[in-house]
Amino acid sequence: MSRWDVAQSYEKDWWNIRKDELDLEFYRSFAREIKEKLSGIMEIDKKTHILEIGSGAAEDITFLESDHRYAIDPLEDFYSSVEKFARFRDKKVKYQKAKGEDIPFESNFSLILLSWIMYWITVMIQRLSLWRQKGC
Ligand SMILES: C[S@@+](CC[C@H](N)C(=O)[O-])C[C@H]1O[C@@H](n2cnc3c(N)ncnc32)[C@H](O)[C@@H]1O
Repeated sequence: MSRWDVAQSYEKDWWNIRKDELDLEFYRSFAREIKEKLSGIMEIDKKTHILEIGSGAAEDITFLESDHRYAIDPLEDFYSSVEKFARFRDKKVKYQKAKGEDIPFESNFSLILLSWIMYWITVMIQRLSLWRQKGC
């Protein structure tokens, strides 16, 4: 098993074991914090294109009021198969199985969120900054 597979298997088990006891409402306060931190920098409204990388069970994106919300995670097949997570999610968010290194959307995002996933990545940071240099 590669290091990546071991890490993904660990992550999946972590969520699977705790899924019944987890109170996903904490995502609501995270979303509030994001809005507070961005206050004076940018306003999130219906037209803001937002991408969440490593979206996990549902994420902060659930509570951000935009009509253009996208979320990716390599374990998306697992997360979407857990009824509790699927029920909690906002159906208007477009979830897809993918890695941050290979973003499957063409949209020009004004806000990209990565929460609790920085320790996973190396190449993704380089890709995102390249993307930025290209004016995306
Ligand atoms: C600790 S969980 C955090 C989930 C969610 N962001 C949260 O805060 O609840 C890390 C997530 O990052 C995902 N992940 C790991 N490597 C990734 C990558 N290269 N691209 C996108 N997501 C990744 C994992 O599958 C996992 O769902």
